[in-house]
Amino acid sequence: MARRTKEGFWERFSRTGVILILLYVMFIILGFAVRLLFFADRQTTSIVPNQNIVSAEGTATATTSLESTALSAESDPVSTDGTPVDQADSTIVGLEMAQSFVAVLEGGTTSVSVNMSTTGQASANDLSWSSSDPSVAMVDSAGTITGVQAGTCEITVSAKGDDSVSASVPVTVRRLEVIDGCTYVDSILIVNKSYGLPADYNPGLEDYVLDAFHVMQAAAAEEGLDLYIGSDFRDYEYQVTIYGNYSQLYGWEMADTFSARPGHSEHQTGLTIDCNSIDDSFGETPESEWLAQHCAEYGFIIRFPEGKEDITGYQYEPWHIRYLGRELATEINDLGITLEEYLGVDSVYAGPWEGAAESE
Ligand code: DAL
Ligand code: ZN
Repeated sequence: MARRTKEGFWERFSRTGVILILLYVMFIILGFAVRLLFFADRQTTSIVPNQNIVSAEGTATATTSLESTALSAESDPVSTDGTPVDQADSTIVGLEMAQSFVAVLEGGTTSVSVNMSTTGQASANDLSWSSSDPSVAMVDSAGTITGVQAGTCEITVSAKGDDSVSASVPVTVRRLEVIDGCTYVDSILIVNKSYGLPADYNPGLEDYVLDAFHVMQAAAAEEGLDLYIGSDFRDYEYQVTIYGNYSQLYGWEMADTFSARPGHSEHQTGLTIDCNSIDDSFGETPESEWLAQHCAEYGFIIRFPEGKEDITGYQYEPWHIRYLGRELATEINDLGITLEEYLGVDSVYAGPWEGAAESE
């Protein structure tokens, strides 16, 4: 009885012990699995701030967009949680320039975004930059491009230590000249928030622009569409009235998003026409669709396209066309860029409107 009791005790003890040991081992295995998962996840997210893709083969592929100037080449790479990244793990398997066309003014700077595919930790520090002709455009180790003198060259980015992984983009360096108060970039008149016209610049609508419009109008009419001039040349004084009214109504900051300050309206160049009714309903008409598709064939571009508001400085205006000649308009249209991007200029006012106090 006593023996049986003793044996029963040891039997129970060993059974419980085995179960406890098994449970302990399971917890350890579970712990490792959780740690493994945690670290695996952290590794991918730290490399890839934007997007993670796992390929069919199961390779983790990171696609990220690096603003080259936003990342300092001097600083040590860090992951999104702030821990240092081990550069020995860096594997860049693909590079792609986000733009196919870059322009910069002589003496100006710009940068280009790079899409990077990696299978490990990588940062802007793992890229190296070079110019095919530093006498035209230079590029520093952070990817900042500086225009040196008018011309074209190619900027290349490659994975450090592996030149076979690289991408290039043509860069055009342009010359800006101010003649009688008007600004020309490679001989193209530019008027926007950054570049104005003298108050007495008063050419009226240029004849060749009106002729080009009439040819376009006739082509549209053949397809049963009615294109007409809603507004064309506006002199400085007229723009004083228009912009003044809008800034009284909406405040100058809001007015600045759709109406040019006096001296900054492209309508004062005599190269611009607003087609049909100047409001958002025009964007819904077949005329608007036709204009967007065909205006380049007649020498015009849609000057303030949708989605480019940060570059042009203005809301989308499907009716506002600028004459550039057929060749130039077609080139810009085919590139899918704005006049600002084509010329390498910005469109930003130097400060608040000087009449701000009166308008509020
Ligand atoms: N609506 C355009 C920006 C102008 O006022 O010239
Ligand atoms: Zn307009």
